Amino acid sequence: MSTYCVPLWGGILEVMQVRTNVPLDHYTTMRLGGNARFFADVHSIEDIDTIVKQAKAQNVPTYILGGGSNTIANDERFDGIVIHNRIQGFEIIEDTQSSTTIRIGAGENWDDIVKKTVERNLSGIEALSGVPGTVGAAPVQNIGAYGQEVGDVTVSVDAYDTKSLGMVTLPAAECSFSYRHSIFRGDDYQRYIITTVTIQLSKTAPQPPFYKALQDYFDTNAITFFTPQTVRDGVLAIRFAKLPDPALHPNAGSFFKNAIVDNWLFEELIASYPTMPNFDMPDGRHKIPTGWLIEQAGFKGQLLHGMRVHDKNALVLINESATGYSDLAAARAEIAAGVQTKFRIQIEQEPLEI
Ligand code: EPU
Repeated sequence: MSTYCVPLWGGILEVMQVRTNVPLDHYTTMRLGGNARFFADVHSIEDIDTIVKQAKAQNVPTYILGGGSNTIANDERFDGIVIHNRIQGFEIIEDTQSSTTIRIGAGENWDDIVKKTVERNLSGIEALSGVPGTVGAAPVQNIGAYGQEVGDVTVSVDAYDTKSLGMVTLPAAECSFSYRHSIFRGDDYQRYIITTVTIQLSKTAPQPPFYKALQDYFDTNAITFFTPQTVRDGVLAIRFAKLPDPALHPNAGSFFKNAIVDNWLFEELIASYPTMPNFDMPDGRHKIPTGWLIEQAGFKGQLLHGMRVHDKNALVLINESATGYSDLAAARAEIAAGVQTKFRIQIEQEPLEI
């Protein structure tokens, strides 16, 4: 039984526009799941401070939501408060001959910011064009695509620390960025509410070698002069061809992370599947595209419990007719078991869950 008293929220209900019983399928791009008991749009650090202190006082759990493109909502009601980050801002804090440093509000739309920086001819996030979601969500899973990762250009992250109830500045080195990972989804999951992200972009034009799919696009289109804009155009064209638009086909981008396997297993697999795509990791392990594993296991294009394994990229699951989270969970279990049986690899879900 809940120990908190709803009327206590009354004081900030009007000021903060805290809403009750808000359906989370409206706020997540997979478009399924139950309600949040409370839901608040926050536009400033003061808003966050008020909500978090109130939530602590009443023992109400919090969940921080950005664009909802990397969050899957469960069917049960979330018996806490969803903090919907809407903090805006785009501030150039340093401009030198070689680089520009920009502080961006966590609630800004990620691709709007990429577009803005590309228009200024800045390089560093142009290959992350078209990634759905907000700026604040980008460092959480260290978004990466076509050879760039947000962690590589991040100077620091400003965040409200729900433990100390104050603001902190975390330099990139303290964020522990790695493949699709950071402290924000690891040891310090849900501890920090990111308010701004500071990135440093270069005035030097993007240089080859490019990610294979991007180089293929340049070759096909006879592009030999590379700018942030040509990279953005190429990436958007590739994404459009391979990734379903969440506005038309509910999905959460890559539903699984690519697999990282130890050398002994890699040696055994490559002997059996000599054409298996793979990438060497700095630590001696090997990354295997999970889209390939799922396709080889026979799931590409299949409809499982209302979830469609995308026919152009098996890493993406589309909610075609799922009745709720339980359908998604059943589809996920079937796919994971199929890959485990064929390859002895346990694949992992990429999106977080509320
Ligand atoms: N592949 C298949 N079958 C498939 C899908 C992929 O055989 O159904 C093979 C491809 O032929 C290629 C390899 O797998 O040899 C890699 O495919 P791709 O270049 O499309 O990239 P990915 O590994 O599937 C990752 C990211 C994407 C990112 C692309 C491009 C993850 C989990 N996903 O996908 O990120 O856009 O690289 O850099 O790392 C996302 O996170 O939502 C996302 C879309």
